[in-house]
Amino acid sequence: PLPQPFGVPLPIPAVKKPVRSDANADYYEIVQREASVEILPGVQTRIFGYDGTFPGPTIVSRSGRRSVVRHRNQLSVPVTVHLHGGHTPPEHDGYPTDLLPAGTGTHDYDYPMRQRASTLWYHDHRMDFTGPQVYRGLAGFHLVHDDEDDALPLPKDNRDIPLMIVDRAFEDDGSFAYPTDLLPAGTGMHGVQQDFMEGVLGDVILVNGAPWPSLEVDAVRYRFRIVNASNARRYELALDPGMPLIQIGSDGGLLAAPVTHQTLVIAPGERFDVVVDFSGVAPGTQVTMVNRLGDCDTTSHVMRFVVARQAKDESTVPSRLSDVPKIDPAQAVRTREWRFERKFLDKHGMEGWAVNGQAFDPESTGATINRGQLEIWRFSTDLHHPIHVHLAPFQVVGRSGHKPGPYDAGWKDTVDIRPAEFVDVAVRFEAFSGRYLIHCHNLEHEDMAMMANFHVT
Ligand code: C2O
Ligand code: CU
Repeated sequence: PLPQPFGVPLPIPAVKKPVRSDANADYYEIVQREASVEILPGVQTRIFGYDGTFPGPTIVSRSGRRSVVRHRNQLSVPVTVHLHGGHTPPEHDGYPTDLLPAGTGTHDYDYPMRQRASTLWYHDHRMDFTGPQVYRGLAGFHLVHDDEDDALPLPKDNRDIPLMIVDRAFEDDGSFAYPTDLLPAGTGMHGVQQDFMEGVLGDVILVNGAPWPSLEVDAVRYRFRIVNASNARRYELALDPGMPLIQIGSDGGLLAAPVTHQTLVIAPGERFDVVVDFSGVAPGTQVTMVNRLGDCDTTSHVMRFVVARQAKDESTVPSRLSDVPKIDPAQAVRTREWRFERKFLDKHGMEGWAVNGQAFDPESTGATINRGQLEIWRFSTDLHHPIHVHLAPFQVVGRSGHKPGPYDAGWKDTVDIRPAEFVDVAVRFEAFSGRYLIHCHNLEHEDMAMMANFHVT
């Protein structure tokens, strides 16, 4: 039986301490291993966890200071780690075939962190098996701080809280109910079968690994860093009783100015940094975060805030947050089309998801992009797909020829494309050359080949 909602406190993932630091870098070690944890009351769930936890530990980096994260793979499956939103050299980007072998694999992921403050996250990216492996728990936060963000009078410390939202289904014995088995490497099979190619959904909403948790808050402002780490579910988040969600940041850090939302639509892979002001709320009031896109009672609720007491609040939300230079799309050297759709991918009638008509092939060269040049990328689609580009953030410049939508502000690395829509983004790859990925962040679509290479040269 499912637990009563709002019965468990919101867990906050532990902040990872470096094993050592020198003048330029902090060094971390994470062990990927199986563990048993109590997610639903009274039963144990076997997870794959970074340090045996789900979510994994939060890494906090300083902008401009290298972070080197040694991952040791003690799991029974190969893994690779991608820092989502990281401006990362290609050999450390967690390419799907750059695998750490089961049981023994180790890699030092070397992140230069030459990027502004933002809410990043890290997760598994194994070829054909990202869906099942992230579902079992391989995801964590990686925050970047910088002087500009620190200097703003936004809520800080224990009023700055990461929220990782996922949906999961459980078997009666407490195990995660992912519909397919993990298969050993080299069988040529995908981690998901055709029946589930639309995406795997669950009926339990977890925030930071706990079902419909509850957080006691003071009657003050809070900053919430929200990531949708679900395999396939999108949410329309709102507060009940109604209160605004004041967006201050997107995937790539602070917005130029806050954007006030009554509801927030968030697709897999996206992040929104929001401030919620509980100062007008009477102590004793319960404020529930709901999901307006829920398909049943359980998935219509996310978590609850319980306003406990009055408290002093020195935070404010400044009307100017940051300097976000607006890219002029007229400066682009070309427009490149990327089409995302369902296709028969082989002559045996195997259906999958294609990018520009092709199933993902790690050996293909893919598009060649000149480093430093501004391009417009036009994403078009048959159905709903959240599109993620590795290496560089982009700005949304239009949707189907109209103005960007309400959730498109600032620097993005993942953008939700709605059915029969096209979205133009302006992108420039500056940090590194090499092979990178563009893909759908519905993880079952990704595992069913909706991914493509591009080369920055
Ligand atoms: Cu969050 Cu290529 O992924
Ligand atoms: Cu998709």
